[in-house]
Amino acid sequence: MDVIITGYGRMGREIEKILLERGHRIVSRVDSGGYGDELRVSKESLEAAEGVIEFALPSGLEDNTALYAEYGLKAVVGTTSWADKKETVLAPFKQSSGACLYGSNFSIGAHLFFRMSAAASRMINKIEEYDVMLTEYHHNKKVDAPSGTALTAAQLVVENLDRKKEILPGNPPGAIKPEQLHVASVRGGHIPGIHTLTMDSPADTLEITHSARNRGGFALGAVMALEWLSADENRKGIFTVEDFISDLLD
Ligand SMILES: NC(=O)c1ccc[n+]([C@@H]2O[C@H](COP(=O)([O-])OP(=O)(O)OC[C@H]3O[C@@H](n4cnc5c(N)ncnc54)[C@H](O)[C@@H]3O)[C@@H](O)[C@H]2O)c1
Repeated sequence: MDVIITGYGRMGREIEKILLERGHRIVSRVDSGGYGDELRVSKESLEAAEGVIEFALPSGLEDNTALYAEYGLKAVVGTTSWADKKETVLAPFKQSSGACLYGSNFSIGAHLFFRMSAAASRMINKIEEYDVMLTEYHHNKKVDAPSGTALTAAQLVVENLDRKKEILPGNPPGAIKPEQLHVASVRGGHIPGIHTLTMDSPADTLEITHSARNRGGFALGAVMALEWLSADENRKGIFTVEDFISDLLD
């Protein structure tokens, strides 16, 4: 495919590598900070492209999606923190021959971890001996704790394991209650992200761990999502990353 990359930062560069590895062509790198080929997406690029992947900041997102929709492009948006303008960002795709697929987590490995956490919780639902806990490790610059990934996994455990009814983040001041699911966060070093679901009984311990090595997992997921969007001409309008992942994994 002929693809525009919008936002040529850490993610944009990873996405470029994966696009080229998978035989796609880069039409233009668009970056408002001056790191790409153009500061804003040009008419020439829009006319030449079939698809676009945007991992930038939310400031110019609604202007960009209006253009992508007008030119009938397949657009994958990984930029986060734009819930406040979701309607204006997505509305242009309701009347477009193009499509927009968006999501806050494009890592296929993370989605495998979510599904395995849910399945494991269902499996031990009737085996009272197993208690469950979640831990996550991240680099010392991470601002949120627990991570969004840990909270998503914790929510799936609570939904699938009757004896866990409440997520308990942070360090508890005393003993936890049996119905609480403890989610512990550790911060330090350069760790891109390690999440572990531990199931512990008097006899043994089982662990499911997702250990991200770098941003490559997000980039691969975004490129595969674009390929999925353009693989079927009926995929027009608005999609979430869940639509793509469910088609891939379920
Ligand atoms: N959905 C996911 O799976 C996922 C994974 C990782 C990061 N992200 C998100 O992707 C975004 C980018 O992350 P990053 O680590 O590459 O950040 P970054 O700061 O390294 O790069 C962002 C780049 O976008 C450029 N930019 C900002 N606004 C722009 C605009 N309106 N038009 C064009 N370019 C613009 C900046 O100049 C910068 O070069 C963030 O929102 C981040 O939260 C999402």
